[in-house]
Amino acid sequence: MCGIVGYAGSQNAAEILLDGLKKLEYRGYDSAGIAVMNNKHISVNKVTGRIENLCEITENGRSVIGKIGIGHTRWATHGSPTDINAHPHMSNSGKFAVVHNGIIENYIALKQELINKGFNFESETDTEVIAHLLEMYYTDDIKKAFYKAVSRLEGSYAIGVISTDEPDKIFLARQSSPLILGVGMGENYFASDVTALVAYTKNIIYMDDGEFAELTPDYIKVFDWAGHPVEKPINRITWDIQAAEKGGYDHFMLKEIIEQPAAVRAAICPRIKNEKICFDDSGIDKSTFTGVEKIIITACGSAYYAGCCGKYIIEKLCGIPVETELASELRYRNPIIDENTLLIVLSQSGETADTIAAMRECKNRGAKTLAIVNVVGSTIAKAADYTIYTLAGPEIAVATTKGYTTQLAVLYLFSVYFAKEKMLLNDEEYHRLLTELKDLPKYVEEAIDMNFNISELAKKYCNTNSIFFIGRNTDYAVALEGALKMKEISYIHAEAYAAGELKHGTIALIDENQPVVALCCNEQIIEKTVSNIVEVKARSARVIGVSFKNNEKILTVADDIIFVPRVDGLFAPIVEVVPLQLLAYYIAKEKGCDIDMPKNLAKSVTVE
Ligand code: F6R
Repeated sequence: MCGIVGYAGSQNAAEILLDGLKKLEYRGYDSAGIAVMNNKHISVNKVTGRIENLCEITENGRSVIGKIGIGHTRWATHGSPTDINAHPHMSNSGKFAVVHNGIIENYIALKQELINKGFNFESETDTEVIAHLLEMYYTDDIKKAFYKAVSRLEGSYAIGVISTDEPDKIFLARQSSPLILGVGMGENYFASDVTALVAYTKNIIYMDDGEFAELTPDYIKVFDWAGHPVEKPINRITWDIQAAEKGGYDHFMLKEIIEQPAAVRAAICPRIKNEKICFDDSGIDKSTFTGVEKIIITACGSAYYAGCCGKYIIEKLCGIPVETELASELRYRNPIIDENTLLIVLSQSGETADTIAAMRECKNRGAKTLAIVNVVGSTIAKAADYTIYTLAGPEIAVATTKGYTTQLAVLYLFSVYFAKEKMLLNDEEYHRLLTELKDLPKYVEEAIDMNFNISELAKKYCNTNSIFFIGRNTDYAVALEGALKMKEISYIHAEAYAAGELKHGTIALIDENQPVVALCCNEQIIEKTVSNIVEVKARSARVIGVSFKNNEKILTVADDIIFVPRVDGLFAPIVEVVPLQLLAYYIAKEKGCDIDMPKNLAKSVTVE
C-alpha cells in the first residue's frame, strides 16, 4: 500500500526522497511523486508507474533543488492511477503540499463543503481535501491550521505537509497509519516504514495515534491531540541496510526463504533460558494467562493460515478450545467473548486494517489480547495487552515466507509455555519439546537443502492451469498456505482442500490435467491421506507427495516426491511449508512473473 517519506537537512532532498521511495517499492504502488521546497517555492514531480520514471524526469533527483521535501508512493484507492491523482497534492494557492497514507472516510462531504467555498479540485483523491482544508483554516499559524484541518478528518492517516510560509518545517500527523521519525545529525526524516530510513539513521521515534509532529533539520517536536509536547523515546534499530537488500539473490522472496533457519532461530533461541521458556521481553509471566478458558486466533491471509496450524498445536498441547477466524469476518460478527477469552492476533506488518479492527472489537468486549507481530512499534504491537515479536527482520517480498514460519515458531513456543503453566506437561515431556524447539532451525535448514533441485519439478508443472493442495489436520492447515503462495506469485489457480472432503464434490474436477500436491507429514493420519491419493490417481491426476524422508507409503503412490526431514508430527508444518514456498517460487520464475511484487497486491494492507 502507499508509502511516505520526508527529509529536512542540508543535502539535496530529492535524491534522498527517491532513494527512500525505492525502499518502499515493495509495499506495492502504481504512481509516485515528490514535492521539494526551494526558495519559498514548492516544485512537484509526479508520475504513474515505477519510481524509475520519476528518477528519469528528475535526473535521479539532481535537477530538483531544495533541502526539504516529502515523497509518496500511491496504491490507488480513490481515483485511478494517473499523474494527477498521484501525491503530493497542492492547495490552490500553491502554499501547501500534502502527502497522505490511509483513507479519509468523510472526504465526499468535505469536498462538497470546500467546493461550495470556491476551492478547485484537480484530482479524484480523498487526500486533496487536506490541502484545501489547510488553506481554508490558515491565517498566520500553520500549526493551528493543521490541527484544525486534521480535526475535520475521519478515517486513517499518516500526513506530511510542507508550506512556503514556513519553508524549513515539515508538519506531520498520525491516526491508524504507520508513521516513524528518523533522528539524524543536522538532518531529520520521516517515513511510513523503517526500511526507507535505515540507510540514513538507526535512531527512530515511533509516533502514536493522535500525535502531531514538527520536523526541521535541527529538531523534532511531537505534540498530543491538545497541542501539548510529548516526550518520545528514541529507539535503536538493530538491523542494517543489508537486511533490506537482495544481497546477490535474484529475488527478495528467495533470500527470505533461505533466511528462515536464522529467523526461526532468532524467534526461538533467546526465549529458552536455563531450560525454560521465558517471554520476559513481552511482559508475560505465570499469572498472565490464568483464567483463560478459550482462545480465538484472528489474522488475515498467510498469518491466518499460521493461526490455523496454531489451533491444532494449542488444542493438542494445552487442552483448551481454540477458534480461528479471519479478521475481516470476526470484526463484523457478534463474537461471544469475555474476560476469560484470550485473543491471539497474528500479523507480520502489525498494520493490517482488518486485523486491527477485529482486535479492537474483541478488546472492547473484554478479551485479553496477545499479538504475535514482526514489525516493532507497529499499531497492533502497541495496541495489544502483550506482544511477542517474531524477530524475523525486514520482510520485503510481498509474499510472506519468514514472516509465516516465525509466526509458527512463536506459536510453538507459546503452546509449550502455556501447556507447562497449565501443568499439562511433565518435566520429561517439557524437556523433549524444548529440545525439538531448539532443533527447529536446523530442520528448516535441512528442508531447504533437501529441496535444492525443486526447480526441476517446477519446470514439469509450470504450465498447468490449476493445482490442488490436499492434506488432513496440520497438513491441511499447511495446504492452505501452500495454495496461497502458488496463487499469489505464479497466478496459477490453486485450491487447498481437506483431503477427506474431496469425495463430497470436488473430486468431480480431478482429471489428468489436474496436479494434486498431497501433504503427508502427519503420521497419525497418513494412511487416510494415502487413500485419497489413490482415489485421485484413479482419476488420472498427477500427484506430488510431500512427506518425510524415506516414507515408503508415499514412494509407491505419488508420481513425484518432495521430502522434508522427519520431525515430531506436531512440528511438521514448519518444515513442510518450506518446499511449498520453493515450488511456488520456481514455478513463478519459470513463468517469468514479477515475484517480489505480484500484480494487484501490496505488502501491508492498511485499508479494509
Ligand atoms: C501472503 C501474505 C498476506 C499476508 C496478509 C496479512 O503471502 O503475505 O496474505 O499474510 O496480508 O498481513 P500481515 O501479516 O502483515 O497482517
